[in-house]
Amino acid sequence: MAKPRRLKLGAILHGVGGGTSMWRHPDAKPDASVNFDVYKRWVQKAEEGRMDLIFIADGLYINEKSIPHFLNRFEPITLLSALAGVSQHIGLVGTLSTSYSEPFTVARQFASLDVISGGRAGWNVVTSPLEGSALNYGKKEHPDHDKRYRIASEFLDVARGLWDSWEDDAFVRNKETGVFFDPQKMHALNHNGEFFSVKGPLNIARSKQGQPVIFQAGASEVGKNYASKYADAVFTGHETIEEAARFYQDVKSRAASFGRNPSEVLIFPGISPIIGRTPEEAEQKYQEVASLVTIENALDYLGRFFEHHDFSQYPLDDPFPELGDLGKNSFQSGTDKIKKDAQEKGLTLRQVALQAATPRSSFIGTPEQVADQVQAWFEAEAADGFMIAAAVPHGLEEFVDQVVPILQERGIYRKEYESDTLRGNLGLAKPENRYTLHKKTVSAGL
Ligand SMILES: Cc1cc2nc3c(=O)[nH]c(=O)nc-3n(C[C@H](O)[C@H](O)[C@H](O)COP(=O)(O)O)c2cc1C
Repeated sequence: MAKPRRLKLGAILHGVGGGTSMWRHPDAKPDASVNFDVYKRWVQKAEEGRMDLIFIADGLYINEKSIPHFLNRFEPITLLSALAGVSQHIGLVGTLSTSYSEPFTVARQFASLDVISGGRAGWNVVTSPLEGSALNYGKKEHPDHDKRYRIASEFLDVARGLWDSWEDDAFVRNKETGVFFDPQKMHALNHNGEFFSVKGPLNIARSKQGQPVIFQAGASEVGKNYASKYADAVFTGHETIEEAARFYQDVKSRAASFGRNPSEVLIFPGISPIIGRTPEEAEQKYQEVASLVTIENALDYLGRFFEHHDFSQYPLDDPFPELGDLGKNSFQSGTDKIKKDAQEKGLTLRQVALQAATPRSSFIGTPEQVADQVQAWFEAEAADGFMIAAAVPHGLEEFVDQVVPILQERGIYRKEYESDTLRGNLGLAKPENRYTLHKKTVSAGL
C-alpha cells in the first residue's frame, strides 16, 4: 500500500529579509544577515517545528541598488557548516552556482557538509541569472540562458560521479594489517566532456544519506526539464493555487517522461505567511511592512530581475514599458511572467513595481486561516511542501508556534522526525553507489 503523503516544510533564512525594507521595522535586527546568533536561533526554532530543512539563497553580483540582504550576507556553505554544529536533525540546503565554479570543488564542499552534518546536506543548483557575475569571475561574458543549463547538466553529472568515488565500505582502516582502504572500492571518474575535464576520485567518502539532496530553482522550459531530470526537490514561486497546481502537474509528468517516479521530485512553493490573532491584525502587519517600501525601492527591486535596468526613467502611471528581450538572459521565467501579466492585466509601471516589492499572498490571516491555505494547496497537489520565508520580523517563530501545531493536530505534518538524514525525512531513497550496483548486477548475472 502506498504511504500517505506527508507535508514537508523548509525555512528560508534571509537575514534582514528578501525584500527592500524589512530591516527598518522596529522589531527587525538590522544586522541579521551577518549575525550568526540570529541564524543559530532560527535553525533551532525550525528544528523545534520539526521542519525538514533550512534553505540559504545566494547570488554572485551586487551593486548600489541591491537589497540590503544581498549587500552583506554569509556565504552559504560556510554558514551551513557552522549551523550543522548547532542542530541535530534538520536538513541544511545551500545555493551554489554551476556557472561560476568547478565541479570538483563543489562536490567536495557539499560532500564535506554532508559528512559534517551526518547526512543532512542539500544543494540548490542554480545557473546564476545576473550578467554582472561574469565580471567577478574574470569571464569575458555571461553564458546565455540555455547554455548555462547545459553547463549545469554536465556539472551535476560530474558531481554525482565524484560522490560515488568511494563505495560505502571502502575504508577498511585495519590497524593490524595496515590496510587503510580497499582499492577495488575506489573509483576514478575520468570525465572528459564539453565543459569539464575531471579525473577523480574525490577525496572524501559518501555520507550516511549517500549523496546530498539536489534542489533546483528555475521555471523556464529548460529549467523545468532540468528539474524533472535531475532534482529531488524544486523550489518555486506561485501566486495562486491553480497556477501552482499546473506547475506541479507539469514537472511531475516531465519527471515521468524521464523514466522517474514522479513522487521522487518534491515541489516546494515559497510562501511568506503573515499571522495575526484576527484577520484584521494580520492585514495591519502586512500594511506596516508594505508602508516601509518607497516607490524608488520598488523600482530598484524590480530592476534587478531585468539586469538592474533603470526603471526610474519611465513615467510611473503609464503602461508598463515595452522591454523587448530584456530579462530573457537572466531570470527568464520570472521576467516573462512579469511582462505577460502586465500586458494581460493592463498594469502601470507603479503597479508592477509595487506588486513585485510588496507581494500580497493568500497566506495572510489567523493561524487557522494560514493552516487552511497550506492544507488546501497540499491536498490539491499544488505543493508537496512549502518554503517558509519571513515577511515580517519573527515570521518564522510565529509560524512554528502557531501554525505548525494546527498542521500536526490535523495529522498532515510530523510530530517527530522519522530519520536523522535529510533524504530520510523527505521520504527519498538513499541512492546506491553506482559501482556497487554494477557489481551486484554483474554477480546476479543480469
Ligand atoms: C523560487 C526561485 C528561487 C531562486 N533562487 C535563486 C538563488 O538563490 N540564487 C540564484 O542565483 N538564482 C536563484 N533563482 C534563479 C534561478 O536559478 C534561475 O537562474 C533563473 O530563474 C532563470 O532560470 P529560469 O528561466 O529557468 O527560471 C531562483 C529562481 C526561483 C524561481
